[in-house]
Amino acid sequence: MSGRRVLVTGAGRGIGAATAAALAQPGGVVVVNYRSDDEAAAAACARVAGAGARAVPAKADVTDLAAVDSLFETVSREAGGLDVLVLNAGVPYRYERLGKLAPAEFETQWRVLAYSAFLCLRRALPLFPKGGGDVVFILSSVTAGAPPAYMAGYVSAKYALWGLARGLAAESGAKGPRVHCVAPGMTETAFLKDFPRPIVDAAREAQGGKLLTPDEVAAMVVNALTSPAEPA
Ligand SMILES: NC(=O)c1ccc[n+]([C@@H]2O[C@H](COP(=O)([O-])OP(=O)(O)OC[C@H]3O[C@@H](n4cnc5c(N)ncnc54)[C@H](OP(=O)(O)O)[C@@H]3O)[C@@H](O)[C@H]2O)c1
Repeated sequence: MSGRRVLVTGAGRGIGAATAAALAQPGGVVVVNYRSDDEAAAAACARVAGAGARAVPAKADVTDLAAVDSLFETVSREAGGLDVLVLNAGVPYRYERLGKLAPAEFETQWRVLAYSAFLCLRRALPLFPKGGGDVVFILSSVTAGAPPAYMAGYVSAKYALWGLARGLAAESGAKGPRVHCVAPGMTETAFLKDFPRPIVDAAREAQGGKLLTPDEVAAMVVNALTSPAEPA
């Protein structure tokens, strides 16, 4: 992966920060996108730099069309193109019955998880090398099997993201970019802060007594990027 040019959305902390560090290689450039937390993003950039890549912090709300345009101007200027896009941005979910779910919460999940991915893809596709490039969609174990109750806003947005991945795979085919989906189980990050403890405990038990770490999910991303292609 030496010299690769990478953009990870939502890379200020958690899974995104770990993935940015895992994809950093000497000679490469990693653009670390985040929304608000400058301090966390500086720490994420330090991890990237520690792995030998040039870290470019890029504060941008990926649900905002103009902000995404500006983010990709940064990518073009600082990296001169793009080899790997990781669509990771997410916000904590307010665990709630569908009948009580606030419309604003539902809209936020769809905007941050799915609409943002579309906005980023439309700017990223022209930057990939001809016939190449990789896009990693961070899905969730909620899309791999029966989904949990009380998470319909999140689950539906992740399915929309999965649909975007499959649509992209169908149209890119052998022309590239390659499309990868990573669907982690429950992972120890700030994302879980509003989750009821019994739910977290049940997930821990179902996962063999432990939550995943962000570094373990980052290793899954690296594994996906280095695995042979499979049909969509
Ligand atoms: N944790 C889990 O159990 C788990 C399991 C499966 C899948 N996932 C998925 O993994 C991804 C990352 O989750 P995480 O647990 O690492 O979450 P996290 O710790 O809450 O980190 C989320 C990151 O996304 C950024 N972000 C949020 N909204 C953004 C926006 N509009 N524009 C740009 N950046 C934005 C945040 O930036 P600021 O901090 O600067 O606001 C932060 O850096 C999400 O897609 C999530 O659905 C998580």
